[in-house]
Amino acid sequence: MSQQRSSWKSNFGFLLAAIGSAIGLGNVWRFSYMAHQHGGGAFLVPYLVALIVAGVPIMIIEYGLGHREKGSSPLSFVRIDKKFEWLGWWMPIIAMFGIMLYYSVVIGWCINYFFYSFNLSWGSDTQGFFFSQFLQLSDSASDIGGIRTPIAAATLFVWILCWFICYRDIRHGIEKASVIFMPILFLLTIILVLWSLFLEGASDAIFNHYLHADWSKINLFSDDPEVQSSAGKVWAAAFGQIFFTLSLGFGIMITYASYLPQETNIGKNAFITCFVNCLYSFIAGFAVFGIVGFMAQSQGVPFEDAIKGGPQLAFVVYPQAISLLPSMNVLFGAIFFLMLVIAGLTSGISLIEAFTCAITDKFDWPRGKVVTVICVLGFLGSLIFTTRAGLYILDIADHFITNYGLVIGGLLECLIIGWVLKASVLRKHISRLGTVIPPLWDILIKFITPVILIYLLYLSLAGDLAENYEGYPTGQLLLYGVGLIFICLVVALVLTLAPWKPEKLKRRHRSEEDELLI
Ligand code: PHE
Repeated sequence: MSQQRSSWKSNFGFLLAAIGSAIGLGNVWRFSYMAHQHGGGAFLVPYLVALIVAGVPIMIIEYGLGHREKGSSPLSFVRIDKKFEWLGWWMPIIAMFGIMLYYSVVIGWCINYFFYSFNLSWGSDTQGFFFSQFLQLSDSASDIGGIRTPIAAATLFVWILCWFICYRDIRHGIEKASVIFMPILFLLTIILVLWSLFLEGASDAIFNHYLHADWSKINLFSDDPEVQSSAGKVWAAAFGQIFFTLSLGFGIMITYASYLPQETNIGKNAFITCFVNCLYSFIAGFAVFGIVGFMAQSQGVPFEDAIKGGPQLAFVVYPQAISLLPSMNVLFGAIFFLMLVIAGLTSGISLIEAFTCAITDKFDWPRGKVVTVICVLGFLGSLIFTTRAGLYILDIADHFITNYGLVIGGLLECLIIGWVLKASVLRKHISRLGTVIPPLWDILIKFITPVILIYLLYLSLAGDLAENYEGYPTGQLLLYGVGLIFICLVVALVLTLAPWKPEKLKRRHRSEEDELLI
């Protein structure tokens, strides 16, 4: 007996959940650091171009597809053509096992740091504290060492929270959590940004490093081949960031949109999600640059030496800056880490949902049990990232998933929707719902976006073949990077083999009107 598909209580609740998925840890540290590394204000140009030519069009695809087929990603793809069901599985499996396993551990770090901020336990050597005391990082990825208990405990807490939220159906679980969490997240962010803006040294960093544009970094047409090739990398990074930040290529937005009622303005929702997410990144950048500028000034070091990338920005630079604040450091620290925990949680639940919905759609097992099994397995899987080699494995997994997993997912999505379903069919389905999508969109997703994504893949591949990512030994890159993607593919193929109940495959929602539009 097929279960009744649940739905959002309101469009606003859906938007908050989708924006909650998009706004995550990546908006805070990934975006700011990328902007700094890739030409400051000039980075906004490739970022905006990526948003327009890939972000918004693919968001429209995912919303449109989920809404039209009323299904998780495997169900949506199988309804287009049986041949593509594996892709519908591969995307949420990558999300679940490639991303959520380490994402939950990073949220666990944030929880630890939230408590550390009460007495600034990180001391004056925040770098030594993070790597040697907190992570107790081993010498290489092959030396796994033991599990770090405080990290594993916090990770367990994250999984329990996610389980608690996802256990219930969408409107009583994820929607309710988003309606509570998202306003808190926005409030905490606004407080932090305003506070940071008034710190001494903040405006210098913001104007001279964040908003100041170094155009040479993005000049693809330079005569100097070196400038040109490094500009290529900047453009590639901007596209990668857009995919990651908008949670595209995981099947999440397809799943979320499948719970929308028949009459919903899909186009408008897609624009709002993209706009709010990117605006959030841009605004959060003021807090990051402001406080790093303050720290640089109070220590008398150049800004370049003060800012660091990746996890170090949140767990080394920020704690140091927090300790230096003249007053209310504890409050500032607690707000910052709480903000990260909330941003991370609202993304984490979306990763679990995409996989849960895929399983319940195909097998009709009770949702609660599926979520319980997924969370128990998820926690056990994430333990590998709580070991002393966790950071290395995380770094390798993240590199391969963001540069290949996501981009391949997005590329295939464009091609299947553009050429197999036919772009115009989906465009007309969406346009009928309120926001008219111009025919240019067909050209984008059939030709332009795929060509750009193929070029991106080529760039990443050429870079990885020329030298080992971050100098890791080939064996480890193959194991934790390529191996992970491959295992996800095998699991996807196995799940594809299971048969569907025939009634699931009927195109209940393909209206006659749709057929006439082809
Ligand atoms: N969009 C989230 C961020 O920017 C990351 C994320 C990716 C979350 C994929 C869910 C799915 O951090």
